[in-house]
Amino acid sequence: MSFSTFVTKLVEGKSFEDLNESHPLGHELDREADKHPEGFTGFVHSLGTWAKEHPDTILTVLHKLRPVLTIKQVSVVTSFDGVRDVLSKDHDFAVTYGSKMEMITDGAGFFLGMDDNTQGFTDRTNMQMLFRRDDIERLIKPSITALCQAQLDKQGDSFNLVEDYLKPIPALFAAEYFGLQPDKHQWLIKVTQTLFEYLFIDVVNDKDLAQEAKQAAAELRQQLDIEIANTSADADTVLGRGVKLHQAGVQGFDPVRLRNNVLGLLIGLVPTIAKSAAMAFDWATQDDTREAAFYQAYENRAAQPFQQYVCELTRLNPINPGLFRKAARDTFVVSGGSAHPIKKDTLVFVSTYTAMRDARFVKQPEQLMYNRAASDYLTYGFGLHACFGRYISDFHVAQLLESLLDKAHYQRLQGAAGNLMFSGVFPSQLMVKAKNNAGEEL
Ligand code: HEM
Repeated sequence: MSFSTFVTKLVEGKSFEDLNESHPLGHELDREADKHPEGFTGFVHSLGTWAKEHPDTILTVLHKLRPVLTIKQVSVVTSFDGVRDVLSKDHDFAVTYGSKMEMITDGAGFFLGMDDNTQGFTDRTNMQMLFRRDDIERLIKPSITALCQAQLDKQGDSFNLVEDYLKPIPALFAAEYFGLQPDKHQWLIKVTQTLFEYLFIDVVNDKDLAQEAKQAAAELRQQLDIEIANTSADADTVLGRGVKLHQAGVQGFDPVRLRNNVLGLLIGLVPTIAKSAAMAFDWATQDDTREAAFYQAYENRAAQPFQQYVCELTRLNPINPGLFRKAARDTFVVSGGSAHPIKKDTLVFVSTYTAMRDARFVKQPEQLMYNRAASDYLTYGFGLHACFGRYISDFHVAQLLESLLDKAHYQRLQGAAGNLMFSGVFPSQLMVKAKNNAGEEL
């Protein structure tokens, strides 16, 4: 039986006994790999294609059977404790983005691509001086809220939630907060999506995508160089603050280093927020029961923070199923009280998706609950590389949805137009229509 048949039958509800559970899963994978005409690499590639289409299914099954599964030089970790263990041991499990970050920055790299590296630590803290947590109340919340309202005011009763609203807002916000030209926001969406896909999704190193990414990176560097050269040190923006510190002689803010760091933040910000909000809305309105609960959560927002509800939506339907690391030395992963050996150079996939649904650590994981412990969430990763933007992202995603509901009671259009569609890995369409208070279409 092929691995995908095995998984499909399991998901269809066949018991392990029916499927001859005595076959250890890893051995079956090895046998399948041996039979593949292109050997193990071809097999992993075909499995990767299958897994890409069904990541949640395959990871859920693996979590049930083997929370840490290692086949040759690939490990998949699906338990909560295992995932946190890998992500917390950055000396043992290195990030895999280094060389791609160097291509994008044309040399120096960006701190997400660096583990044990002084420049990485310095750049991360330098950027915290420009992208400040205490801007949240004074600058960030008012800016995002006003942009959401203005964008919704431009829409008719029916519009494409993704392209007309969710995608432009993070790009417009980035332009305002960083101090970039706002009329280039469509271009910013395009280049950051390409670079995001190249960095985080493309594990097979697709040549065409690499070419597109090279072009997008060159455009982004060139545009940021122009923007930085035109920035006044008096501007109360990310770029303005960077230029001011450079003029004051503070190390690490020269125009090229500032550009490289801003470039990394833009790739982190622009594509993720829109995708996260689209997937949260999609999950929340999949059927009548969920939709009623979603509107109820909005109506109750004075008593229970709507943002917490939205965090639950993004926990249950995150923008990616997990993250990759590579073992920097022979090491082990602790999961379920055992240490699982991992050899140097093993590619390790940690499934944050299943970890956040691991009932041994997360109370009633399938339920949407207010007041969960912050430690239950791995939406923004964990450890050294935990998301730089995590302090603003929950607010941003929730505000996109709250402003939408403030404006009107929007529902998906009936039929295919109301489905969330993707162009590649990014959402591209979900048509909505406003209803009046009586629930009738306007
Ligand atoms: C809903 C939106 C977002 C999601 C789901 C998200 C998710 C993540 C995740 C999972 C990581 C860890 C990557 C790893 O360990 O391999 C990460 C890192 C990062 N994110 Fe985000 N992110 C979001 C928004 C943002 C925003 C708004 C920014 C910019 C302000 C940003 C900038 C970054 C940066 C710079 C890192 C690398 C941090 C480091 O290496 O120290 N992200 N993000």
